[in-house]
Amino acid sequence: MNPADMGDDLERVLLSEEQINTRLDELAEQIDADYAGKDVLVVGVLKGAVMVMADLVRRLHTSVEMDWMAVSSYGSGTKSSGVVRILKDLDTDLIGRHVLIVEDIIDSGLTLSWLLANLRSRGPESVEIATMLRKPDAAKVEVDVRYVGFDIPNEFVVGYGLDYAEKYRNLPFVGTLAPHVYSA
Ligand code: IMP
Ligand code: MG
Repeated sequence: MNPADMGDDLERVLLSEEQINTRLDELAEQIDADYAGKDVLVVGVLKGAVMVMADLVRRLHTSVEMDWMAVSSYGSGTKSSGVVRILKDLDTDLIGRHVLIVEDIIDSGLTLSWLLANLRSRGPESVEIATMLRKPDAAKVEVDVRYVGFDIPNEFVVGYGLDYAEKYRNLPFVGTLAPHVYSA
């Protein structure tokens, strides 16, 4: 998919594929430096983190295992419901592990603070967070996010794993949708 494939559904490209790739290189370098000599359990949060997870772990020199969790905090629309449910739990025991949570986006931070408390209760050695995108409201949440790809404006975005009603996850860039898409 490229911007032209979206016709008039695309309002504008916020982050190009090239910008994303450059930032991923930097994040991977930082993560490699921080976890030198350690084994890391990278936990991807489905479904949004699929792209960043795949692209990030392939850049790492660090020895990793990958596991996935699926939680739900949004319905099919664009507003947070404030309710987090586990749809799929980890297969891995976290006792003594260095856990790195990989997220697509932190918006209200509700999902993240809940997830952090949940994983910390399972006895890991450490838990850190890497997110590709972060919105301004995330600042209200008292959690230390170690790795942030981009701070973005408070707009609803799609692409690079992020959906609107389950669509547009496969865009290799991050963009905003034209208003007619939401009202259709
Ligand atoms: P939070 O709990 O408000 O931080 O929201 C986290 C989840 O909401 C993310 O993992 C996304 O699935 C979804 N989300 C938040 N903002 C956006 C957006 O702009 N586009 C698409 N999904 C979003
Ligand atoms: Mg979503």
